[in-house]
Amino acid sequence: QWTIASIVEEQVAKIREQIGDGRAICGLSGGVDSAVAAALVQRAIGDRLTCVFVDHGLLRAGERGQVERDFVSATGVNLVTIDARERFLAALDGVTDPEHKRKIIGREFIRVFEQAERDLKAQGDYRFLVQGTLYPDVVESGGGTGAANIKSHHNVGGLPDDLQFELVEPLRELFKDEVRRVGLELGLPETIVHRQPFPGPGLGIRIIGAVTAERLEILRAADSIAREELTAAGLDRDIWQCPVVLLADVHSVGVQGDFRTYGHPVVLRPVSSEDAMTADWTRLPYDVLERISTRITNEVSEVNRVVLDVTSKPPGTIEWE
Ligand code: XMP
Repeated sequence: QWTIASIVEEQVAKIREQIGDGRAICGLSGGVDSAVAAALVQRAIGDRLTCVFVDHGLLRAGERGQVERDFVSATGVNLVTIDARERFLAALDGVTDPEHKRKIIGREFIRVFEQAERDLKAQGDYRFLVQGTLYPDVVESGGGTGAANIKSHHNVGGLPDDLQFELVEPLRELFKDEVRRVGLELGLPETIVHRQPFPGPGLGIRIIGAVTAERLEILRAADSIAREELTAAGLDRDIWQCPVVLLADVHSVGVQGDFRTYGHPVVLRPVSSEDAMTADWTRLPYDVLERISTRITNEVSEVNRVVLDVTSKPPGTIEWE
């Protein structure tokens, strides 16, 4: 479609003008936003872009492999992977407040990139940082038309004062559906373009309570089962996203065989949406819900209860934190 082709053309020109003959780093999160932002910048400046993928330990099962395999094979970009799992866990130790978690994760992200920049200096002057900030992120962080700061999205509101990069944000005027069409226009594979959104702070804001390595393992296992079953049922394109949330500080009594259990609940939060500004809870088929519930309680021993969130946005947000 001509409008999308012209968005690509216009953004590529803007990027070239901003970056000149400089070099840029782009953090890949595994999501469509950063992938499309990176692909746009690569189209504009070629191999003067280096992508950095931070494994912050808050990823879902298999995500690191998907970035290293799918994205690199689709685009051929230079990719550096940094394993920062220990660092993020240490920084989040004992933190329960959602905005505090976001601030910490955002700050650590930038610090890790700054380290990456120092490491890349040997090859040239990397002064630009590419981010996949969308229009709704800008509006909800109060950067748009004066809207209230609902949540400080880490890629807009949580930047530290000692930021050493100039930001390049080629998706800043776009909604999610436009970003997907730009991605297709740029030749990215469907697996990346139609990937459901996943928040930058990752599973860190889907554990209600403090983040620990053990809790991450539990949530990752439950989330992976939910995603497998939704995919198997052919529902990926019908739902916007389906957070799985671990109520880590809540215990409930259950029974398994002859034994009483005392485990955690997980919440399924399937939502339908156009742009994440508003959302409705998705009426998933009962048999799919049953399979997810049975598998999670059978396969994840710490979880003994699966509950369904039937709240629209507003008044609920999509994420629980
Ligand atoms: P809420 O929970 O505000 O979420 O209804 C709207 C959309 O934004 C995602 N989300 C985030 N994305 N950093 C992000 O990059 C964040 O801190 C963050 N919080 C929420 C959420 O998954 C949904 O798609």
